Amino acid sequence: MSAPLAGGVGAYLDNAATTPLRPEALEAMLPFLGPEFANPSAAHGPGRRARRALDDARDALGAALGCLAGEIVFTSGGTEADNLAISGVHESVGGEIVVSAVEHPAVLRPAEARGARVAPVDARGVVDLDALADLLGPGVRLVSVMAANSEVGVVQPVREVVALVRERAPAALVHCDAVQAFAWLDVAGLCAGCDLVSVSAHKFGGPKGVGALAVRASASGALAPLIRGGHQERGLRPGTENVAGIVAAGVAAALTVEQREATVARVGALRDRLVDGLLAAVPGSAEAAPRALRVAGSAHLGFADLDGEELAFLLDGAGVCASVGTACASGARTPSHVLLAMGWSPAAARGTVRFSLGWATRPDEVDHTLAVAPPLVGRLRAASTPA
Ligand SMILES: Cc1ncc(COP(=O)(O)O)c(C=O)c1O
Repeated sequence: MSAPLAGGVGAYLDNAATTPLRPEALEAMLPFLGPEFANPSAAHGPGRRARRALDDARDALGAALGCLAGEIVFTSGGTEADNLAISGVHESVGGEIVVSAVEHPAVLRPAEARGARVAPVDARGVVDLDALADLLGPGVRLVSVMAANSEVGVVQPVREVVALVRERAPAALVHCDAVQAFAWLDVAGLCAGCDLVSVSAHKFGGPKGVGALAVRASASGALAPLIRGGHQERGLRPGTENVAGIVAAGVAAALTVEQREATVARVGALRDRLVDGLLAAVPGSAEAAPRALRVAGSAHLGFADLDGEELAFLLDGAGVCASVGTACASGARTPSHVLLAMGWSPAAARGTVRFSLGWATRPDEVDHTLAVAPPLVGRLRAASTPA
C-alpha cells in the first residue's frame, strides 16, 4: 500500500484527480534521479543503460495498450497526449473534427480551437450514436471519444464508435482518451480499433508529468509534432526524455494490468459499500449516472438542496478528500460541462460531489467517510434552511 497522505487525512477519495505513486514505481525511478542520470541519446555505456530502461518502459506501455512498443510516444502527461492527437492530426491532414460533449478539456479545448463539431450524450452520459452518425461524413478526418469519463466515470461504447466511423467517415482517424479508463478497463481490447490512444501515468500509480500517446501505424503519417526540435520519440515529441518518470510509468502500467481484475473486484466492492451507505443515510441523494456503466472507482453523487463545493470543503475539514468534478474545474463556480451535457440543471449540477477510489483505497477510508459525510450534509442543509 502507498504511504499515508500527509496532513492527517482519513480518506483520500480523489483518485480520479491523481493516485498515489506505487512503491515499486518509486523504487524503479530512483536510480535515474541519482547515479543513472545519463542522457538516453548518448552513445556511451551509461547513456545506453538509460536507453535500455526507456525501451523496457516502452515495451510495458505497448503491451498494456495492445500496440507495438515503437508505436508509443511518451509525453508530459494526458493533456499533452490529447493535444498531440487533436492538434497534431489537424495540422497534418486538416479536415473536420468531431468530439463528444463530455470530453476532458484537454480534448475539448484544442478541438474547439479547430472548429470541431460536438456529438451530444444521453442522460446517462453515453454518447448518442445516432447523433454522432449524423455528424460523420467524408470530410471528417478525426473523431475523439473518451473511454471513461473523468467526472461521472461512465464508459463509452468505443468499439461501436469505431465501427460507425469506419462506415460513415472512412477518411477519419479515431482517438480515444483512455486516461481515466486505464486503471479499470482492458484498454488494449476496448481501444483495439482506435488509431490513437492517450494515457497518463499519475492516474494509475505512476508519477505526474508522464503520459503516452499510442500512435498506431494507421496514424503515423498523419501526425505533426506540436513542438519542434530533435529526433526523440520519432520526432513527434522532441526533447530529452523524462527517463525516471517514464521508467516508473512502465512499472506502474505493468502492475496495473497484472492486478487490474483483482483491483476492480476489491475496489468495486468498496465503492458499492460507500455509495449504498451514503444513499441510505442521506435523504435526497442519488448517483449521477447508472452504476453499471461506470468504472469501479467512480462514486459521483448528487445531493438535493446543497452546494457540492461547500460539502467538499466540510469533508476536507473532516479528513475526507473528495472533489467537485474535474480537478481543473474545482475552484471555478461554473457547473460541470459533463452534467450539463447530460441534461442536468445548473443548480442540480452544483449539488454534486465526486468521490473516486483507487488502487490504494482501504476499507477504513470508506468507514470514515460513511461516518462523517451524512451529518455534514445535515448540517449544511440546516444552515441553508431559513429559520
Ligand atoms: C479524461 C482525462 N483526460 C486527460 C487528462 C489530463 O491528464 P494530465 O493530468 O496527465 O495532463 C485528465 C486528467 O484529469 C483526464 O481525466
